[in-house]
Amino acid sequence: MDVHSYSRPDLVRVRHLDLEFDVRFDRKILDGSVTLHFDPASHPELVLDTRDLEIEAVENAAGFELGARDPILGSPLTIRLTPGCTWVRVKYATTPGASGLQWLDPPQTAGKQHAFLYTQSQAIHARSWIPLQDSPAVRVTFQGRVRTPPGLQGVMAAERAGEHFKMQRPVPSYLIALAAGALEFRALGERSGVFAEPALVDAAAREFADTEAMIRAVEEMYGPYRWGRYDLLVLPPSFPFGGMENPCLTFATPTILAGDKSLVALVAHELAHSWSGNLVTNATWSDFWLNEGFTVYLERRILEKVYGREREEMEAVLGRRELDREMASLPESDRVLHIELTGRDPDDGCTLVPYEKGALLLRTIEREAGRARFDQFLRSYFEHFAFQSITTADFLDYLRRELHTNVALDEWIFRPGIPPGAAEPESDVFHRVEAEANRWRQGREIDTSAWSTQPWLHFLRTLANPDMERLDREFHLNDSGNSEILHQWLLMAVRAEYRPALPRLEQFLASVGRRKFLKPLYTELMKTPEGRERARRIYAAARSGYHPIAQATLDAIVGVG
Ligand code: BES
Ligand code: ZN
Repeated sequence: MDVHSYSRPDLVRVRHLDLEFDVRFDRKILDGSVTLHFDPASHPELVLDTRDLEIEAVENAAGFELGARDPILGSPLTIRLTPGCTWVRVKYATTPGASGLQWLDPPQTAGKQHAFLYTQSQAIHARSWIPLQDSPAVRVTFQGRVRTPPGLQGVMAAERAGEHFKMQRPVPSYLIALAAGALEFRALGERSGVFAEPALVDAAAREFADTEAMIRAVEEMYGPYRWGRYDLLVLPPSFPFGGMENPCLTFATPTILAGDKSLVALVAHELAHSWSGNLVTNATWSDFWLNEGFTVYLERRILEKVYGREREEMEAVLGRRELDREMASLPESDRVLHIELTGRDPDDGCTLVPYEKGALLLRTIEREAGRARFDQFLRSYFEHFAFQSITTADFLDYLRRELHTNVALDEWIFRPGIPPGAAEPESDVFHRVEAEANRWRQGREIDTSAWSTQPWLHFLRTLANPDMERLDREFHLNDSGNSEILHQWLLMAVRAEYRPALPRLEQFLASVGRRKFLKPLYTELMKTPEGRERARRIYAAARSGYHPIAQATLDAIVGVG
C-alpha cells in the first residue's frame, strides 16, 4: 500500500502510456492527452492521481469524476470503465502553477533569448502534468510526442527520434521527464553526450569528459548499463536539485560546472541510479533509502575507481560530517532509514539520512563481508530485482538469504542514529588539512595552492569561528567561481555577520535556485532580526524565480508575503 497515491494498482494496473504534449509557452501550459493501457478490466473503476489539471474529456470510458483536492495528494480522478476495456484516453491541460513544471522566462536562462521548460516528477509531482497511477510501485512503458515552438527543442528522458520518444523498459512515474528550450548537443562518447544551452555546452562537455569512464566503471562492478544511451541535460540555475536521474537523460544543475571536474560526484551519483533506483526501485517513499543509500554507496565506488582512493575518502568524510550536522537538528523519527510518512509530503523525508546513513550501512556490511563478496551480492541483487519496485522488507529477506551478516540490520533501519561499529570513513588528506587549519589559527601562513574543492570545504568547516576579515584578505573567497566553496563561505559570513560578503550573498540567492544552497543560507539569515529583514527582502524579489518545490521549502522558513 502506497499512502501517497489514490490509485489502486491491485485492482487495475496500467502498463503503458501514450503521451502527446503541445508545449504552450504563451500560456505556460502543456496541452495534451494520455492514453492509458491496462490489462482487460474486471474492476469497474480506474483511479488516477492528478493535481491541478484541467480535465477536458475522457474517451472510451463510461464517465469520470474529479474528487476533492488534498493539499499533499491532489485530486483522485475516478474513471468508470466499460467491461473488458483495455484503454482510456484523458484529454487535459496543465495549469501554470503545476508543482512538477518550471516555466522560465528568457531572462532566467543562460542565453536570455528563449523561454525554457522542464519537469521534475520525483517524488509525487508527475500527477501535476500527467494523470496517472503516481506510485513508484507501478511501472509503465511509454511513447511520447512533444510539439514545441520553432527554434526550441523538446526532449524526453527516453529513446529519442525527432519529436518522438520511446521508453521500452518499464519505469516508475517519478522518472517520466520532459524539457524544452534552446538546446545544443555535444557527444561525450559512443553512447553518451550532453545537452545544454549554447553558451554552456562546451564547458559542460569538458566538465563531463569522464562520463564514459564512469559508465564502464559501474558496468565492471555491477553488470551492464541497461538503458541504451546515457546523456546529461544541463538546466538553468533555478533547478532545485543537484541532479535528477531521469532515465537515459540525467538532469543537472549548472552549479556543478566548476571548470576542474571537482563536482562530478553528482554525475557519478545520477549515473549510479541507473542501477540503484531506476533498475531496482523503492516501492514506497518510506523505502527511499533503498534508492539513495545504495546510490551514494555506488557513487563513492565509482569515484574510487575513476579518481582514486583519496578522492573517495574525502567525499565520504564530508558526507559523514554533514550527516551528523543535519541529524542533530532532526527529530528522532527522521533519524531512521525506513521512515514513517503517512500524512506527510514525501519531499519532507528528503534529508541526508537516507543518503549518508544508508551508504554507511552498506559500507559496514561490505567491511564485514569483504569487498569481493559484497560486490557479488550487489551484482546479483540488481539482476534479481531488475525492473522491479521493492520494499525494505524485500531487501532484508534477500540480504539475509544471500549473505550471513552480524550487522544489526533492524537497529540500523528502524532505530534513530548511527549504531556502534559503523565503518567510519577516514581521509589522510583531511588530517593534513586539519594540521594546516591549526597552523592558520595560530596566525601562520599556509600553502593552499594544491587544494581542490574537497580540502577547501573541509578546511572551512574545520575553522569554527574564524577571523573572517583575515580569511577574506588571504583567500578572496567572495571571488570563488566554485558554487560549493562559495556557498560554504557565504554561510560562514552570515553566521559571523560579515558585511563585506553581503552583496555576493544577495547575488547568489538571486541567481541560484538549488535548494541545498538556499535552505541553509535562508535558515541562517532568519536567526537574527537584521538577517530576517534581509532574508524577507531578498526572498520577496527572488521567489518568483525559484522552482515551486524550492518555494514551498522556503515559504516555510522565511514566511510568505
Ligand atoms: N533523486 C534525487 C533527487 C530527488 C530526491 C528529487 C527526492 C526529488 C525528491 C537525486 O538523485 C539526488 O539525490 N540529487 C542530489 C545530489 C546527490 C549528489 C546527493 C541533490 O540534488 O542534491
Ligand atoms: Zn539520488
